Amino acid sequence: MDPQLLNLHDYHRMARGKLPKEVLDYFEGGAMDEVTLRENTAGWERLKLYYHVLAGIGERDLRTTILGQSISMPIGVAPTAFHKLANEAGEIATAMAARAAGTLFILSSLSNTPMESVFPEAASPRWFQLYIYKDRGVTGELVRRAEAAGAEAIVLTVDAPGLGTRERDMRNRFTLPEGLTVANVTPLGKGQLPDVRGSGLAAYVQDNFKSDLGFEDLDWLCGWTRLPVVVKGVCRGDDARRAAEHGAKAVVVSNHGGRQLDTAPATCEALPCVADAVGDLCEVYVDGGIRRGSDVLKAIALGARAVLIGRPILWGLCVGGKEGATSILEILRRELDEAILLCGCAKLSEIGRGLLQP
Ligand SMILES: Cc1cc2nc3c(=O)[nH]c(=O)nc-3n(C[C@H](O)[C@H](O)[C@H](O)COP(=O)(O)O)c2cc1C
Repeated sequence: MDPQLLNLHDYHRMARGKLPKEVLDYFEGGAMDEVTLRENTAGWERLKLYYHVLAGIGERDLRTTILGQSISMPIGVAPTAFHKLANEAGEIATAMAARAAGTLFILSSLSNTPMESVFPEAASPRWFQLYIYKDRGVTGELVRRAEAAGAEAIVLTVDAPGLGTRERDMRNRFTLPEGLTVANVTPLGKGQLPDVRGSGLAAYVQDNFKSDLGFEDLDWLCGWTRLPVVVKGVCRGDDARRAAEHGAKAVVVSNHGGRQLDTAPATCEALPCVADAVGDLCEVYVDGGIRRGSDVLKAIALGARAVLIGRPILWGLCVGGKEGATSILEILRRELDEAILLCGCAKLSEIGRGLLQP
């Protein structure tokens, strides 16, 4: 084990030293004052674990299922845009890392590599994240292509009817460098970020994404695809329940890594309300600020079936391509295993809210 790369913070530090400022700011940044961004990580840190002792724990079992598909641990890869900014191997390396770790891979709509090239490199479960374009034809075609390319669920991101103001990107006039595109929609004439005074991504979202997203769009998607639909970006129990009633098979408690509405609650605060509200209606996952295996355990204690990680995968990719991203997942697996042992549990189903209360 490289003593310089023991944990996710080490990868973050190393990636900081390698990435150009505008890319680093795009990866790291959040909306406005970045309150939610900071709270996501601080929230998990603040929760304290009231561990059991003398529990006689031997072998631990981290395996679980999501939407009926097996994963080796409750930690999957969140959809994040533009992986070729981190490493020239891009999304293909990420897909291979998830495959090596035996876990979920979610490909962003905004990948630099077309889904037809990425999905064959990913094992099951492999899901496609969808942004709804103003042009229903574009959206419908993306879904059809994802189905044909082997996606096993559609993850509809609902917290971005517009892009949250990311001032770092505005100051840097963030755009994609020469040669990189929004590859999935390049054949549809939507592959370029515009060159504008502020953030090219913000302008792209404003030009292309449907801003009046409603439950009827969820209804449309559930009717259009044969795949299960996951709704990503909820922070309230009532919305989550309604999403399940409209056909979502799972929801992701997420604030987009603090990149959309600033001062939205940390996901650890929103999670228990959502889990209580949906009960058995659908599965619940969470992302945002997960940096240690103990954070994963806390998320499960609060009612999540699995967690997703965003930025740390990008740091892993930047530092070491496929191997780096795989290491990120393996570090979290090792840390989760240790946390479970030290909490006196042998399997995920034994992790309950009692661990967070005296
Ligand atoms: C650089 C970056 C790009 C992202 N791109 C997308 C995206 O294309 N689609 C999406 O649904 N979420 C996107 N997200 C949000 C992630 O899916 C996830 O919610 C968030 O990163 C989780 O927080 P974490 O980075 O603290 O783990 C992005 C996040 C980052 C940091």
